Amino acid sequence: MDRPRGIVFPMMGAGLAMLLIHGLGCRPSREPTGDAGKARSVAEPRAVLGAGGCATAGCHAAPVEGHLPWQSAYTVWASRDRHTRAYEVLREPLAQQIIATLGARDPSRPLPPAHENESCLGCHVTVQGARVSEGVSCESCHGPAGDWLVAHTLPGWKTRGNSLGMVDLADPFVCATQCSQCHIGGPPAADGFPREVSHEMIAAGHPRIVFNLRSFKLGEPPHWQDRFAGGEGGLDVIDEVVVGRLGALDAYLAMLAYRSARAMETSADDHIGAWPEFAAFDCYGCHRAAVAAVDRGATATARLGRVRLEPMRWALTDELLPEDAARTLADFREDVEATWWMPPRPEAIEACRRAVESARHSAGSRLKAIPADQLARRALGSVDVTNWDEVVIAAKALTALVDRLSLQEDVTAIRPRLAVVRTLLEFPEQEIGGRKVRFNSPHGYDAAAVRTELEAIVRAIEAVGR
Ligand code: HEC
Ligand code: HEC
Ligand code: HEC
Ligand code: HEC
Repeated sequence: MDRPRGIVFPMMGAGLAMLLIHGLGCRPSREPTGDAGKARSVAEPRAVLGAGGCATAGCHAAPVEGHLPWQSAYTVWASRDRHTRAYEVLREPLAQQIIATLGARDPSRPLPPAHENESCLGCHVTVQGARVSEGVSCESCHGPAGDWLVAHTLPGWKTRGNSLGMVDLADPFVCATQCSQCHIGGPPAADGFPREVSHEMIAAGHPRIVFNLRSFKLGEPPHWQDRFAGGEGGLDVIDEVVVGRLGALDAYLAMLAYRSARAMETSADDHIGAWPEFAAFDCYGCHRAAVAAVDRGATATARLGRVRLEPMRWALTDELLPEDAARTLADFREDVEATWWMPPRPEAIEACRRAVESARHSAGSRLKAIPADQLARRALGSVDVTNWDEVVIAAKALTALVDRLSLQEDVTAIRPRLAVVRTLLEFPEQEIGGRKVRFNSPHGYDAAAVRTELEAIVRAIEAVGR
């Protein structure tokens, strides 16, 4: 295998920024509601109607001022949401660069441009027949509306448990798996377009994709009420953080199962679908040594470090899951990492998904019963502070605990410290081809400083929290 030389990562990607900026932020809010609902099961592709179907003024296109979130959902999405640009970015120079770099690997097979390339359209548009220009619109998240558009306006409609294909995004597990279709990737969607960002695509310039439900929802211009922030109705941020993480973990496992099955079907000399797919592993296990060498100004002597499954998905799983479920996942992880060049066994992945599923409805309440100071201590104790991914997750967990404490205690002294951690986790900004980008590596990452700050935050939580 080729070894990376002077590792030059592409931009950090809005997603990573999202984890930092919004993941460590806080927002007040209200709104209680019921608990989690059921995942949908779709038998056959349902008709996609397009955002226009939601845009009537009496429906979701009211002005933002003076209206409830549901009434102005379309207005907010159309005027402020990044997802409306998801198709347009495929015409921009970075997309062209990605395709050119991928194409250069086999000049005998020219690739279609990004905005016509199925490998890109799968996550960058909501397909409605031939019309794709809306980018990622309502039905990518809420489900194809063909069967429910009329029904959901009738009295007595309940999204939870409906059989018409409207996705119950109020359930953090369901919401996380829905967003993860594009923010983690997965098997091809109903339209047959792939949904995968491979290491090859990342090496060609695609931002690394990452996902965590709470911070990504906070990163959106909300067209909904934040039912988790207020501490009413028995729900709180712990529910969204914990259950959302389990949903994203499930999506990651599903992606692993898909990659593994494909690798087993594909002949060894066929490059496409080959395992190991590096994007499923810890970026810095392979890249950090080289980055550190570059930092010191030495010639980059890249060394292959320890190969680990993507830590961002696994961080804190010991805390999130009951003991037996955590054990199942830890054993699986250990097995895969010990023989990482072999595709993981489908039955083993299935067992993990069952363990996650079994914890899904109880994890939130189990963790909520534990006092914040203990949770904070455990969160810090169970992450490796030298690993950037793991620290991002620990910092987000601490932020959620502080948000929760803030409902009863004065936490103004703790917030600035969270901001310091955020700064320590940020990557330096650079300019490439006229674009300001952030390097996708923990360039200059100072684990000792991060540890000191996190330790101070945990002590501060211990001082106010129970
Ligand atoms: C698995 C879903 C998925 C696939 C497949 C995919 N992308 Fe993306 N892409 C994303 C997500 C999610 C983001 C936002 C990343 C982030 O910041 O979290 C993104 C971001 C980008 C960006 C940066 C946009 C910006 O705002 O600067 C470009 C350019 C891009 N993708 C191009 C492509 C191209 C070209 C392809 C096909 C070769 C492709 N993408 C395939 C999910 C995908
Ligand atoms: C990127 C994904 C995404 C897209 C695109 C999207 N939504 Fe949503 N929508 C959500 C999420 C997440 C929620 C909130 C779930 C929760 O916490 O209850 C939501 C909530 C809603 C709600 C309920 C608001 C409330 O009172 O809480 C409505 C109505 C809605 N969306 C309509 C739309 C319409 C119309 C569009 C297209 C114009 C759209 N959404 C596009 C993700 C999306
Ligand atoms: C159909 C694929 C798809 C789905 C489903 C999806 N996203 Fe995205 N999302 C994208 C793509 C592609 C981008 C990058 C768009 C760009 O950079 O222009 C993106 C960007 C984002 C961003 C970054 C916005 C910014 O300011 O840069 C956030 C936050 C986000 N998505 C949150 C969510 C959440 C939360 C959900 C689920 C409720 C969700 N997304 C569902 C494809 C998707
Ligand atoms: C098992 C080791 C391994 C893992 C894990 C790994 N990479 Fe790589 N990476 C490599 C090697 C080897 C190369 C050089 C060959 C190539 O371009 O594919 C490389 C190349 C790259 C490049 C292009 C570098 C350049 O100078 O052109 C980027 C960017 C990159 N990787 C990012 C990532 C990200 C982000 C992750 C985590 C999602 C990751 N890598 C995970 C081994 C790895």
